[in-house]
Amino acid sequence: MSVEMIEDKLRELAPVAGLLDPQAAERQALTAEVIAYAERFLEALPDLPTYRDMPDPGAGIEEHAPTEEPESIAALLKLIETHVDTAGLNPASGGHMGYIPGGGLYPGALGDYLAAVTNRFSGLFFAGPGAVRLENGLIDWIKELLGCPLDAAGTLTSGGSAANLAGIVAARDALSSKDFDRAVVYVTNQSHESVFRALRVAGMREAPVRHVAVDEYVRMDPASLVRQIEQDRAAGLQPWLLVASAGTTNTGVVDPLEALADVAAEHKLWYHIDAAYGGFFMLCDHGREVLRGIGRGDSIVLDPHKGLFLSYGCGCIIVRDGRKLYDAHHGAAEYLRDFDSTAAQRSPSDYSIELSRHFRGLRLWLPLKLFGLKPFRAALEEKLWLARWFHERIAQVDGFECLGYPELSVATYRFIPRHGSPNDFNRRLIKAIQQDGSVFLSSTTVDGEVYLRMCALCFRTHLDYVRRAFNLVVKKTQELTS
Ligand SMILES: Cc1ncc(COP(=O)(O)O)c(C=O)c1O
Repeated sequence: MSVEMIEDKLRELAPVAGLLDPQAAERQALTAEVIAYAERFLEALPDLPTYRDMPDPGAGIEEHAPTEEPESIAALLKLIETHVDTAGLNPASGGHMGYIPGGGLYPGALGDYLAAVTNRFSGLFFAGPGAVRLENGLIDWIKELLGCPLDAAGTLTSGGSAANLAGIVAARDALSSKDFDRAVVYVTNQSHESVFRALRVAGMREAPVRHVAVDEYVRMDPASLVRQIEQDRAAGLQPWLLVASAGTTNTGVVDPLEALADVAAEHKLWYHIDAAYGGFFMLCDHGREVLRGIGRGDSIVLDPHKGLFLSYGCGCIIVRDGRKLYDAHHGAAEYLRDFDSTAAQRSPSDYSIELSRHFRGLRLWLPLKLFGLKPFRAALEEKLWLARWFHERIAQVDGFECLGYPELSVATYRFIPRHGSPNDFNRRLIKAIQQDGSVFLSSTTVDGEVYLRMCALCFRTHLDYVRRAFNLVVKKTQELTS
């Protein structure tokens, strides 16, 4: 084909392809509509339900697959409003006190916006030196917060599950090949399910998993752990991985991190601490007390999209001996030869499975810098007090019993009816609360008993929402018992 013909073709295509790159006036109009939508959403938020059940929720959006024709931003925002931002759980609401709530700090969204517009490549130092330094600075800040040594390394991940996987992969690679088939894992019945998923994905599906005994508040018992390790060693097995929880998802309790660190050190186990929920309580005095010993973990998982109130999509893995995270993940490729791999700065892509990745450091750095740390510390401390307030109030209501005192920001409780099965009653109770939707609470089972939970972690959750939750639990209990 002649060059002229190719140029004709290119002249024909360029104006159509150019539609992908709107010019200033059009960009500003698009942005204004999106911001107006976001503002309407945020202004309405206090009055929106936290949970909305609907027949076939969200299904309408399926009729809007991409077609050849363009549509207006106004029409598309309407679709989002109707089909996406209406049904189900509203995690942006301060009424979200189920599971482990997320956040959605507004400047975090602005960080995401800037990261997407500038599209800095944050995987490799050579390509995005400023972006990589910014992220490495955040990792250093988190290391210092936890009390990790200088040669610890880490990276920001998509969330806690990906961070658990990265830590467990580093632990697996640190195993010698002769021990691979004999390696034993120690968890409790409260460990997060992503730990088990990570073990399977990491190829350790067949490793025996010991559920170590727990105390009355479902925290791992170090003496039982030692006995189990000794039994396994006597049986010719290789105790390998100890998984502690620094804030369980079920009841928010923290395993005895310091005592477990001693056991791990003495018995040469890899000590993995899942602090996805609890880790950032290190920013307040009580948290530092409860989480003492966290910096002794070989690998530590945190979730800025929980404890630093970011929107979903930001976890973190820190590995004490940073070289081990690097050894497990780094890559080298012919087509990436143009950069100096010996650069003094760590490249995030050498510490995770991701090469191209969202520049997620910006969504974390911007709010931390813009607000300063003080409001983060205050918000976290507030959440601890909110759980205590809820606990004190519910414990005083006739028929309710609590599972321990909140160690962090989860209150766990149930109603014991005069007649019938407590489990059936509490299942009906949580359903009634969720159907109401003015706040959102969730339930769990501990030792086969159904408990309700109230987890305060959304930055918009203040006393008014927790009081609303308390009143709703009492009201629905009265309705079900009368
Ligand atoms: C203790 C704990 N670990 C891990 C996870 C998984 O984190 P993510 O949902 O960010 O993947 C969670 C999620 O709630 C959690 O509570």
